[in-house]
Amino acid sequence: MASTKVIVLGDLHLISPDDPDEDRKVRRAHFAQAWPSFRDLVRAIRGEAPDLVVALGDLVDWYSEPNRDFARSLLDGMGAPWAATPGNHDLSFSWEGKPETDDGDGPAPPRSGWAEAGIEMGNRCIDLDDTRLLLMDSATSRVPEATVAWLDETLGDRPRNLLFTHVPLRHDEVASRILAEDPRRNMEKYIQHTDLFGPCLRGRVDAVYTGHLHFPADLTVEGTRMRMLPLSTRSPLKEYRGQGVATVLTLDGQDGWEEREIRARQGS
Ligand SMILES: [Fe+2]
Repeated sequence: MASTKVIVLGDLHLISPDDPDEDRKVRRAHFAQAWPSFRDLVRAIRGEAPDLVVALGDLVDWYSEPNRDFARSLLDGMGAPWAATPGNHDLSFSWEGKPETDDGDGPAPPRSGWAEAGIEMGNRCIDLDDTRLLLMDSATSRVPEATVAWLDETLGDRPRNLLFTHVPLRHDEVASRILAEDPRRNMEKYIQHTDLFGPCLRGRVDAVYTGHLHFPADLTVEGTRMRMLPLSTRSPLKEYRGQGVATVLTLDGQDGWEEREIRARQGS
């Protein structure tokens, strides 16, 4: 059987040059100037001809129609089908990344805006040969009760299950690793509030791919690989560890899979 290739993108924090909020673009210059690096990475991704690209959220630094359309147009340039799971910044009108609620007044809330542009952000699964990919919405760090039922129903009938979500799973070993890398991280924000691993995922998921931290980490917890991916953009103004890469998964048969990183190609 031919192998299947999936490329996973970490946070992007794209900001369109056409977004009208000039003040924010100055305050967030470290991300506003990062998008050309992603355009270069898109060339490398296109060269890989993946079967699917999965983005782990924070496609944009704050939700606006110009930022949404800019992200869509860059991602469409990969020449491959792509799917996204939302990050906190995708659901926020503010660059601080706090998801906003719909008060029935003012601009359309971000969730409707993504849907109107044809970009799905809810829970869903995608089957590729022997592998089931589960895309789970954890943008607010809280996971609703319905998500637990969905996971229970959806997991289990494939040889390999991979979970893709924005915020790292709640588990003591995951929290310890994050704090070992950066002791200032607030565990209220950087791991999920709901314990999904113990009640529902232990022994049923081969690997979990997450973003949100903006640094890479890799550990195995009770048989499940926890991969935390760095930014897939590269900021010319700020050093984020491991930034500017995409992760290529080559899924081959039922036993394991290969993982490697690709970086931007310039001028190709
Ligand atoms: Fe982020």
